[in-house]
Amino acid sequence: MKNITVIGTGYVGLVSGAGLSDFGNKVICADIDKSKIKSLKAGIIPIYEPGLKEVVDRNVNNGRLTFTTDIPQAVRNSDVIFIGVGTPEGKNGEADLTAVFTVAELIGRNLDNYKVICTKSTVPIGTGTNLISIINKNKKQEVKFDYVSNPEFLREGAAVQDFLMPNRIVLGATSKKALQIMQDVYRPLYINETPIIYTDVPTAEMIKYASNAFLALKISYINEIANLCEAVGADVHVVAKAMGSDGRISPKFLHPGPGFGGSCFPKDTKALLSLSNALNEPMKTVEAAIATNDQQKVRMFNKLLNLLDNDIQGKTIAVLGLSFKQMTDDVRESASIVMISKIIDNDGLVNAYDPVAEENMKELYPNINYCSDWQEAVKDADAVVIMTEWHEFRGLDLVKIKLLVKTPIILDTRNILNIKDLITLGFKFDNVGRKSKN
Ligand code: UGA
Repeated sequence: MKNITVIGTGYVGLVSGAGLSDFGNKVICADIDKSKIKSLKAGIIPIYEPGLKEVVDRNVNNGRLTFTTDIPQAVRNSDVIFIGVGTPEGKNGEADLTAVFTVAELIGRNLDNYKVICTKSTVPIGTGTNLISIINKNKKQEVKFDYVSNPEFLREGAAVQDFLMPNRIVLGATSKKALQIMQDVYRPLYINETPIIYTDVPTAEMIKYASNAFLALKISYINEIANLCEAVGADVHVVAKAMGSDGRISPKFLHPGPGFGGSCFPKDTKALLSLSNALNEPMKTVEAAIATNDQQKVRMFNKLLNLLDNDIQGKTIAVLGLSFKQMTDDVRESASIVMISKIIDNDGLVNAYDPVAEENMKELYPNINYCSDWQEAVKDADAVVIMTEWHEFRGLDLVKIKLLVKTPIILDTRNILNIKDLITLGFKFDNVGRKSKN
């Protein structure tokens, strides 16, 4: 078991730090954000991630997990340093590596004995080489280090489970010694025979992008099939189920919807595209997946407009669900942002409700009408739009909605409502790739 510092306490860093301490390592989670560290020290988790508080509390209480803003000291006290800071989208779609480079300089300056420096943040292929040279340039002492690329495959909302029970671990390293150290870091998983892929740094970096872009392709593909289903009168769910029975295709990530969002797929597909263009190896498939996804988000608004006979001015739309998927408060690149902005641009009014993402959406749209439950949101609405597949929306009481709304119009962008019920109750409705009429 190792002494570890994880730099960055966002979705990736905090879940990784907590998970690594749960594996028996002694972990310091470090961040320059003083208020975040203060909250964490007080037992407050700054993000909504089911199960995370339990893991954090458990390991803080047994002394294996601590928090600090003193990154230099944390670096000096550790055998392994994980970089888990953000890599947001830059101006031209490329990943913005400012935070990662700053952390690398800091690690270099504080390197006082052999350490393994490991990147968890999603960084473009080739970044490992740059980080190694930055650390070398900033070293104050002639000490050796190794570099490991250990990409994360965590899904927001299921990140704790994904970290503690992953389907694979990818380790791209500059030496065998580093791989052995990493094996020790992940010892419980190694003993459990979780598949571990040992490789070089660029291959590990590529695995991450190739995986995310492939899943994004799959979603855009099924969304286009769904759109075609609408045109030919087929049901996309039956199509997806039958496709998924073929082991070569697999049923996962074949759920049509309003277009993928979140901090990963939109950013990573663009970063991969930007890299491939820069290297003159264009990726037409990824380019198409991005364009399809952008169109899908706009298509949802057009569906709404259609349901309202192109007359949205002054109408109130109940938007149920703001986060980019269920079980998270993250609204980054959420399809609901496009929906809300288009409703506003077309002089409609928004009644918004989400069980956890209201505060985050308020940063983007402080002036729409936020409601404390779906009943309040749908009251006197001219149309209801479901944007997120929260469990509480799956069981919506349609009879009650019919009584509360001004006009019984529903757009179900997640295909979670029962079509028979909608027809029986006389709703005018639409969805993605399924029947919308008798
Ligand atoms: C994604 C990957 O699934 C993780 O493996 C990866 O580690 C992570 O990105 C990352 O790079 O950090 P995440 O963005 O949290 O995880 O969420 P997903 O569950 O993958 O969903 C992404 C988007 O695709 C959501 O908007 C979701 O609604 C949409 N989606 C997903 C569909 O529209 N259809 C599907 O069948 C599946």
